[in-house]
Amino acid sequence: MTEAETKTADLIASAAEATAGTVRSEAVATRQMIASPVTEAAADIGVIGLAVMGENLILNMASRGYTVAAFNRTASRVDEFVAGRARGLTILGADDLPTFISLLKSPRKVMLMVKAGPPVDAFIDMLAPLLERGDIIIDGGNTHFPDTVRRERALAEHGILFVGAGVSGGEEGALTGPSIMPGGNPAAWPALKPIFQGIAAQVNGQPCCDWVGEGGAGHFVKMVHNGIEYADMQMIAEAYSLLSDVLGLSAPEIGAIFEEWNRGELDSYLIEITAEILQKTDDETGQPMVDVILDTAGQKGTGKWTSVTALDVGAPANTIAEAVFARILSSLKDQRVEASRVLHGPEDVGDKPDQTAFVEQVRQALYASKICSYAQGFQMMELAAAEYGWTLDFGSIAQMWRGGCIIRAAFLDRIKAAFDENAALPNLLLDAYFTEAIGTSQQAWRQVVAAAALRGVWTPAFSSSLAYYDGYRSARLSANILQAQRDYFGAHTYERTDRPRGEFFHTNWTGRGGSTSSSTYNA
Ligand code: 6PG
Repeated sequence: MTEAETKTADLIASAAEATAGTVRSEAVATRQMIASPVTEAAADIGVIGLAVMGENLILNMASRGYTVAAFNRTASRVDEFVAGRARGLTILGADDLPTFISLLKSPRKVMLMVKAGPPVDAFIDMLAPLLERGDIIIDGGNTHFPDTVRRERALAEHGILFVGAGVSGGEEGALTGPSIMPGGNPAAWPALKPIFQGIAAQVNGQPCCDWVGEGGAGHFVKMVHNGIEYADMQMIAEAYSLLSDVLGLSAPEIGAIFEEWNRGELDSYLIEITAEILQKTDDETGQPMVDVILDTAGQKGTGKWTSVTALDVGAPANTIAEAVFARILSSLKDQRVEASRVLHGPEDVGDKPDQTAFVEQVRQALYASKICSYAQGFQMMELAAAEYGWTLDFGSIAQMWRGGCIIRAAFLDRIKAAFDENAALPNLLLDAYFTEAIGTSQQAWRQVVAAAALRGVWTPAFSSSLAYYDGYRSARLSANILQAQRDYFGAHTYERTDRPRGEFFHTNWTGRGGSTSSSTYNA
């Protein structure tokens, strides 16, 4: 058995144990009575999984007037929840799956808030026999979108409507209003819409939730959100390290600068929390918290999926991929410590730049780099939509990311406006607002990247965003050399500047090769 299979077997075994508890009707009744005396099919929706996100989503739903059934693999969690945070609310705890299902109004809506992967399949297998045609299963976890495509198809054959909904915002978002990105079987949306839009964050009078598209579209968009999240976080870390390493500022001083930046065009959740993080002191040592945290980043894989998918659909999402590689490089802590003793950086780094001017340059570099990573994310979604047959509304996606989620930022209003004005905009950089914004900041951005290179400060996301910008804005790149090389060693052919596109030529570069060219195709 693989590890995944073992976990699935464990899960099914414990779920079977819980199902056997059905006969313990007293316990069930007691549990239901603790929360509410209702034992009929009274719940508007049921949620499985009482970890942080599940529990808070249930409380959010109940606070908006919905009756919610709750089930957890470990039944004692249900008891604790019902007797604790759920006490007195319209939340019905169930001890076993049949009871849980019996509590749901038709069409039954079951939301899985369990770990992505085998547990989702295991619960689907247990739920499907208990559900009827037209009932709905929603997976609210960070599931890889091809799994959602597969599950939606398989369940559709049994008449069960499957939805993969990306949910972003962490614990607080889940409780007070997350961003929700649902996609899958569109027949499920009318029944889900009032609940999901009711519990989602609201910005500019609009919910940060709308139907994304068919199949795996919802989880795909959440995945791209996470890729952008990785890039945003990496860029903020780079801004911090520039202010720290080049200007020698302390963490609280940098925190105060971030607080100031959060009042301008960088206004966003991640800048806001970083300002707070930087100003937090460690109780044990009295030092800034960030100075006692080890510099190795973890990851759960969504940034990697985004990068791999970008390669799959041929999207140049280099800043996003760079942010993933940056985490990987950071995790090689022991090697880096060793290497730092051998590999030296520049020695003469010159005078410290003027503080006020440099802080402003870093701010502009951060904004310009951020625009590029969002441009990459949206460009990637456009290419994926064509590849996977989805119709994505990019203005609506910008609205979904405007509030509730981790990458929420004021400038998403501008992105929404850009796509509302031109739904077929091929690249965010070509929208007048962003063309001007990046044009205004590019000088400062180049100076910051140059200063970082000259001083040996690590700024992979700033640099790769600039590389993306310079590549995208170049009418002629150096790929002519690549084509010549490919044709030289492998007769892979090339197109000519003086002939129509689609005509391919081969040159016998050495006089030794023949005139036969290899077949022309692009992966
Ligand atoms: C969100 C987040 C969340 C993600 C964490 C951890 O939108 O609420 O993206 O879904 O799981 O941020 O991700 P990493 O462990 O990969 O950093």
